[in-house]
Amino acid sequence: MTQTRIGLIGLGAYVPERIMTNDEWAEYVDTSDEWITTRTGIKRRHLAADDENTADLAVAAAKRALADADLTPERIDEIIVASDTPEVYTPDTASFVQHRLGAGEIPTYDLAGSGCAGFVLGLDIARSRVRDADRRVLVIGVELLTRLMSWRDRSTCVLFGDAAGAAVVGVGAGAAEILAATAGTDGSRGDILTAQVGGTRAPFNLERARRGQHQWIVMKGREVFKEATTRMCGAANEVLALAGLDVEDVALIIPHQANLRIIQATGKALGVPAEKVYANLQEYGNTGSASVPLALWEARQQGRIAAGDLVLLTSFGAGFHWAAMLLRF
Ligand code: ACO
Repeated sequence: MTQTRIGLIGLGAYVPERIMTNDEWAEYVDTSDEWITTRTGIKRRHLAADDENTADLAVAAAKRALADADLTPERIDEIIVASDTPEVYTPDTASFVQHRLGAGEIPTYDLAGSGCAGFVLGLDIARSRVRDADRRVLVIGVELLTRLMSWRDRSTCVLFGDAAGAAVVGVGAGAAEILAATAGTDGSRGDILTAQVGGTRAPFNLERARRGQHQWIVMKGREVFKEATTRMCGAANEVLALAGLDVEDVALIIPHQANLRIIQATGKALGVPAEKVYANLQEYGNTGSASVPLALWEARQQGRIAAGDLVLLTSFGAGFHWAAMLLRF
């Protein structure tokens, strides 16, 4: 009998060893554990070691996802890497991953700049590749934000952490089936979360570097907060409608981990009890496009997801982008 269940057939994640507490941040900028905890919920984050780069984190997570799927790298047909913190501008991080993983000479590409929504969007693209081209696709969300952000800007530096998460999308009896997916963009809101220096509009030069603009993340925190809640909630409702299901049917919601208050507000707007909304940013901070796969992997490791459970992923990111997906384990 042909098995047509398309979904996630393997999951993996990697976080670097080094942990940095809120108190340690107070040694660099004018902040406190109390401020960070109250405003964001974050207590700790992990930092990549000096000899670790984006592709190293990605490969570590990918190896675990492949082991989980019981596959060797040669059996992967395509690789998608979602990241805003690439190894270099060109070539893309996916090509480094292909080489270091020992995959074949397959198509690989980055989903760059879509911020924290990139991983869920990547899963949706992978699903269509599996359906239309009979492929087995490795999707990775990876971020090494602590190396590219400013360590002097207290309004952003305390928020981020480094990590990678990965999933293999393919066909399998045990797959976490993708029931529905949605994504969207409002480019008119690009200015609320952006790195304005470094591209063709404002290339790096000595003057900009002197002003510290090479590490400048511009963020209108309150506006991001409002958009995040509205868009994650809207996208979640959209996938439920597409699948013809109600939020009460969902066992666990996994939102992008940017701020505990955004996560709580999203759960409240969706009308679900707090225990059905997964949060782990206390330990990792905002890990960008790695946050959803890391949370999904950890929730499964902790036994929070049982066979048959419906799990809803919802995310937002710079752009302004959003993406959501409904899975049946
Ligand atoms: N420590 C101490 N004080 C700080 C810090 C800090 N780390 N950062 C900012 N402050 C100060 C500000 O300077 C401000 O001081 P002022 O009143 O003297 O001007 C004061 O705290 C209040 O600042 P607000 O911006 O009003 O604080 P708010 O309650 O909005 O919280 C926060 C700020 C946490 C950034 C919140 O707006 C937020 O989480 N927004 C969304 C952020 C987000 O999701 N970003 C996405 C990142 S990328 C991604 O995930 C796609």
